[in-house]
Amino acid sequence: MSQTKTILRALAGETLPTPPIWMMRQAGRYLPEYKATRAQAGDFLSLCYNSELAAEVTLQPIRRYGFDAAILFADILLLPQALGADLWFVTGEGPRLSTITTQAEFDKLGKGEMIHDTLNPVYETVRILRRELPEETTLIGFAGAPWTVATYMIAGKGTPDQGPAHALKEENRPLFEAILERLTESTIDYLSAQIDAGAEVVKIFDSWAGSLKGEDFQRYALYPAKVITEEIKRRHPGIPVIAFPRQAGDNYIGFHAATGADCVAVDDSVSPEWVAEHVQPGGCVQGNLASRHMVTGGQDLVDETRKVVDALKNGPHIFNLGHGITPDADPENVKLMIDTVRGA
Ligand code: CP3
Repeated sequence: MSQTKTILRALAGETLPTPPIWMMRQAGRYLPEYKATRAQAGDFLSLCYNSELAAEVTLQPIRRYGFDAAILFADILLLPQALGADLWFVTGEGPRLSTITTQAEFDKLGKGEMIHDTLNPVYETVRILRRELPEETTLIGFAGAPWTVATYMIAGKGTPDQGPAHALKEENRPLFEAILERLTESTIDYLSAQIDAGAEVVKIFDSWAGSLKGEDFQRYALYPAKVITEEIKRRHPGIPVIAFPRQAGDNYIGFHAATGADCVAVDDSVSPEWVAEHVQPGGCVQGNLASRHMVTGGQDLVDETRKVVDALKNGPHIFNLGHGITPDADPENVKLMIDTVRGA
């Protein structure tokens, strides 16, 4: 049977007349129905671990907008929690974790199959979604990249410059590398279980890849992405992988070939014309409209959306934002973006 899901066709390298579209953080606080379901769940983590409600919020933007893909509702920090780190969210501030900066703290982390004890509700969310999604909608699973997850584990919170993780890398490289290796192994098991439950594509979010320079980028962003991608493809032939080494700049060039990823997602610090010339020859690209247009809207939104579509129309492309949609976005602007992409 020929493939009817447009996202899978683009990921297989097909250039489509209209790019398929989805949006990072498409289930989120800009949507009143998300806020209502979240209030019903209690806090954010309770929502992540409530399979029925997590599936419900995943479906909300599909019902409202008809995106071509749904992304599993969960968080990249569930994995460190499954390894034994304490995790909580402070309203208005973001995530907090117990820190890992010493060998003794690292030695307390778990490994192997134990992660599934905590993460089973996430796999159940995937199973529900595969039953309930429209047949044309692709289900994307995801995990954080080892470096990005490590920056939160080492600092115990989000940091503007990932300073604590860079400091540990310089001061205790063996420990830093042990953390990355543990995360690489468990990320493979986590993504693999999502695929077994029904995820059709997996995406690796390396939100802080841009703060790794030179050799560090090769060792701690590119290499882990390659190891994860190769092992996922060995265990699950035919499952496409999307890599998102955010703000990688020139390091986006050659990232498909160096990692084996089927698609490289690009942020909006690079122009779509540059992406067409330097990244898209390597394979499918995803991106990269600036998220602020979902707040500001108007003719600018239409013009910039058309620019992205136009620049990337001669190769495989999945339309997306350059980063997640923000809570202050106007749901009407999302509709305008989709209509513009689809030429309605
Ligand atoms: O894209 C999606 O809709 C899928 C679900 C998803 C969430 N987080 C839900 C979420 C995904 C793929 C993520 C990834 C994630 N989580 C990343 C990588 C992508 C990126 O944005 O760079 C990171 C760094 C995290 C860690 C994280 N989770 C932070 C720093 C925060 C707080 C910041 C904020 O926006 O409040 C979260 C919370 C979070 N994860 C929310 C959502 C919808 C908001 C929680 C809420 O409802 O209050």
